[in-house]
Amino acid sequence: MSTHEAEGIRGDGGDSGGNDPRIVLLGPPGAGKGTQSSNIEAAFGVPHVTTGDALRANKDIETDHGTPREYMDAGELVPDPVVNEIVVEALADAEGFVLDGYPRNIEQAEYLSEMTGVDVVPFLRVEEDELVRRLTGRRVCPDCGANYHTEFDPPAEEGVCEECGAELTQRDDDTEDVVRERIRVYRENTEPVVDHYRESGELVEVNGENSPDEVWEDLREAIEGNV
Ligand code: AP5
Ligand code: MG
Repeated sequence: MSTHEAEGIRGDGGDSGGNDPRIVLLGPPGAGKGTQSSNIEAAFGVPHVTTGDALRANKDIETDHGTPREYMDAGELVPDPVVNEIVVEALADAEGFVLDGYPRNIEQAEYLSEMTGVDVVPFLRVEEDELVRRLTGRRVCPDCGANYHTEFDPPAEEGVCEECGAELTQRDDDTEDVVRERIRVYRENTEPVVDHYRESGELVEVNGENSPDEVWEDLREAIEGNV
């Protein structure tokens, strides 16, 4: 029995047979994966599994490969064994899910396919200049996790979270230099994953450059049409 089966992960790699969609949301850094995953979670009742948030919550934990911080603050990928473990645990009891930020390279895609099948892989397409604008202007709430943008989605009171009143901060990896490196790493490692799902027929491309509401409308249609 494989580790995955021992941990209760679906090992058939085939159709879900249930009603909860299994969604892998792909897109470059800043494409809107987190923003739209929240919509998917609310509308389809599936858990939002995000390796980025899980790693940020454990940035200084010592692993056999060092701390996640060493990689994340430089815009590089955290080693596969660390990330795979997060996903195995998160999917252990999940019927459906929306995966955000994983898989990020072909090895992770292969690992995921041993764990579970997927129903649809929406890909949010956004050009580089827009990604840089979005990420350098992003502000996050360190307490409740709410996201804002200085220009596109500002809070009512500058620098203050509307949800909980905490002072907003900038992610360590949202400086322009690190953002450019994250985009480079994405092109080298994650674009082949996009091609992989395009070839296997699960990819559905969505224009991620529209307003968040318009993107959500298209994304919802893409999911409903493919599960
Ligand atoms: P992660 O946290 O996953 O970062 P990312 O993929 O670079 O993506 P972001 O979270 O920055 O952007 P997003 O697409 O979620 O966009 P958002 O909705 O926030 O990963 C961080 C790091 O962790 C990696 O660099 C790596 O080191 C490590 N890591 C994570 N997963 C890993 C893995 N599998 N393997 C190895 N390492 C891993 O939106 C961005 C901004 O734009 C916000 O301000 C938002 O308000 C705004 N916005 C959203 N939509 C729109 C719109 N339609 N129009 C205008 N503004 C918009
Ligand atoms: Mg995100």
